[in-house]
Amino acid sequence: MLEAHEIKPNVYWVGALDWNERLFHGYTTERGITYNAYLIMDEKVTLIDTVKEKFSQDLLARVSQVVDPAKIDYVISNHVEMDHSGALPAVAAACKNATFLCTTKAKEEFAHHFQEAGIDFQAVKTGDTLNIGERTLTFVETPMVHWPDNMVTYDEFDKILFSNDAFGQHFASSQRFDVDVDLCEVMKQARKYYANIVQPYGMQASKALEVVKGLSLEMIAPSHGIIWTEHIPQILEAYAQWTSNKKVDKAAIIYDSMWGSTEKIAKAICEGFIQAGLDARYFDIKATHESDIVAYTLDAKYIAVGSPTLNMKMMPNIAMFLTYQNGLSPRNADRVGLAFGSYGWAPVGPNAVQKELEGAGYKLPQETITLNWRPTQEDLDTIQEKAFHLAQAQE
Ligand code: FEO
Repeated sequence: MLEAHEIKPNVYWVGALDWNERLFHGYTTERGITYNAYLIMDEKVTLIDTVKEKFSQDLLARVSQVVDPAKIDYVISNHVEMDHSGALPAVAAACKNATFLCTTKAKEEFAHHFQEAGIDFQAVKTGDTLNIGERTLTFVETPMVHWPDNMVTYDEFDKILFSNDAFGQHFASSQRFDVDVDLCEVMKQARKYYANIVQPYGMQASKALEVVKGLSLEMIAPSHGIIWTEHIPQILEAYAQWTSNKKVDKAAIIYDSMWGSTEKIAKAICEGFIQAGLDARYFDIKATHESDIVAYTLDAKYIAVGSPTLNMKMMPNIAMFLTYQNGLSPRNADRVGLAFGSYGWAPVGPNAVQKELEGAGYKLPQETITLNWRPTQEDLDTIQEKAFHLAQAQE
């Protein structure tokens, strides 16, 4: 029988563990995913968020360990996306007496997602409160963290912020709290989550962060991953850094190669960066998934991208990487880019990379490095020197 986990007196985690999920629309989730939902037992029984549709019965089974779902008075939906709302039709069927609450934007979106469930949502806005007995819940809209409809719910009695996507991590665990798991791994997953999910909305996330800083908090309970308790300062500090868009002296060299020439250039660039004092590393795009690379590049000041020419184009894996990374709208104005690559008949691949980097707003002080056929050691020494000077010139 599935259990409900009491995280504070009369507050329960009733979510789902998705140990096997490995891809979240293009983002690899090597540690699985959790969909966190929370049940508050007060004079009015309240469910905060639900789970992915296929885990609907897990949610209801966990709730049933505490209370008959028919006795739930309120269902609060902080976010429309289906990893948190997919179970709403099953919840609506089981909770006949519940009132459903969400933002105005969410109400509009739910009308498209759940036409057939016939759920009558009531809209709430920032500053609205809901008294459920001993507790009063306060709603704060957090648009674009991570969709336009988002809000968070603050429980002042328990000092818990139910933060939905914000501060989440794709990290399935039998444990519920930060103090019971490997913090390094959780922070790594929180960073990957921010880079791949929240990054395009960094400005909105920084505004939400200001609201959070004003709250008295004992727990941040996101809708993915573990609950922050002792390590609230660490995750807030990390979000402060990530949303600041500050770059550090770090470089990523990302490339694909057909016969090893572009790879040799990548290694020479990397060595030049290292000798100039940067924290640098290279990624063969075939060996590392783009969602891991963007977690690394989140605060990197230097990004070099290399491709040979294939069929008068850049290599498809590099095109995919650039499309993915640019889609996350990284702030590149203070970032140095460098395009490079080898070619046989025409340097179309590296020049196409250069155009992509220009279009994404990188500074490109060094002209694109192109090399016909195989590089000699002298060529590589020259390239290493160029990379060294590129890094030195930015000091
Ligand atoms: Fe976890 Fe935006 O959904």
